[in-house]
Amino acid sequence: MEARGESAYRGARALVTGGLGFIGSHLARRLVELDADVTIVDAMIPGCGANRWNIHDILSKVTVCEVDLRDREAITPLVRDQAYIFNLAGQVSHIDSMARPLDDLAINCRSHLTLLEVCRNENPGARIVYAGTRQQYGRALRLPVDEGHPMNPTDVNGINKMAAEWYHRLYHDVYGMHTCSLRLTNTFGPGQLIRHARQGFLSVFIRKALDGEIIQVFGDGSQLRDYNYVSDVVTAFLLAAADARTAGRVYNLASHEVLSVMQVAEMLVKSGAGGVEIVPFPDDRKRIDIGSYYGSFEKIRAELGWEPRVTVEDGLERTIRYYREHLEHYL
Ligand SMILES: NC(=O)c1ccc[n+]([C@@H]2O[C@H](COP(=O)([O-])OP(=O)(O)OC[C@H]3O[C@@H](n4cnc5c(N)ncnc54)[C@H](O)[C@@H]3O)[C@@H](O)[C@H]2O)c1
Repeated sequence: MEARGESAYRGARALVTGGLGFIGSHLARRLVELDADVTIVDAMIPGCGANRWNIHDILSKVTVCEVDLRDREAITPLVRDQAYIFNLAGQVSHIDSMARPLDDLAINCRSHLTLLEVCRNENPGARIVYAGTRQQYGRALRLPVDEGHPMNPTDVNGINKMAAEWYHRLYHDVYGMHTCSLRLTNTFGPGQLIRHARQGFLSVFIRKALDGEIIQVFGDGSQLRDYNYVSDVVTAFLLAAADARTAGRVYNLASHEVLSVMQVAEMLVKSGAGGVEIVPFPDDRKRIDIGSYYGSFEKIRAELGWEPRVTVEDGLERTIRYYREHLEHYL
């Protein structure tokens, strides 16, 4: 059954940047199911989550362009005539952003400014939804964190993601373009990069469960987090782009469930991990850790009717089942 606003996508042209990655590929699949005319732009950036297997089942139904958003000439014809641009291209690793800050700047800022400039010149009427992050807030001063909470990022990635969100807002405020940002929290599901341990603790824990290994929890494991299953995040993108009222707006994604890192690790022991071990925070991670965080999704619920549907337990089961079947494509 179609959710609210999804009929808008039938026959519509939609561009998904970062569409070979984890969330972008799920979004592309849902758009195909809704009969949209889908183009994927992805530069297959090394270390990021790009994986052609993520779209193997829809390959014949989408146009895939291996193009970097920073390549203005190459993206110009791709941006023209798109009704919707889902802008999910990005470098996600906080730790990598500290190790190679200039790469993070180039990927997470220059890419988006280039895309916005091309849109301004070629397609100012497109609806653009950007994938922001809870990392923009940094350490929470109060919980749950709402959209009015100050932004004090603790790492280079958070600063660059915040700047890219501001570029989107600026192009709305100054040029009247329809841009909107969703601030995603920990998103999980099939197709996320699990090859290395630099893209967030959840993907590391999932890999440990698949390998039957012990999960190492940093600190005491009491840090609180919220988690969204990827299908719920996709729904939020579709709702945001389909609604004319989202122009210039930002929305948190968050969850009904708030679980400590330890609770999630214990869930994954039931799914195959060999146990849980508490270890001290490595220095490089401690320095940028945000402590406990969970967000409020009241704004997007009130304005767009979004709320997450898939529980963490159910989502983890679906995720583990997927990887057990397709693991060879993710190692
Ligand atoms: N996964 C999460 O928990 C999470 C949380 C908060 C925000 N986000 C944001 O959501 C977006 C998608 O995240 P994901 O988990 O799917 O990451 P991912 O690494 O799986 O996918 C990102 C994709 O973007 C592509 N890309 C990067 N720079 C590009 C460029 N200049 N031109 C073209 N393609 C480029 C990469 O090759 C990769 O395929 C990112 O912007 C990320 O910051 C994700």
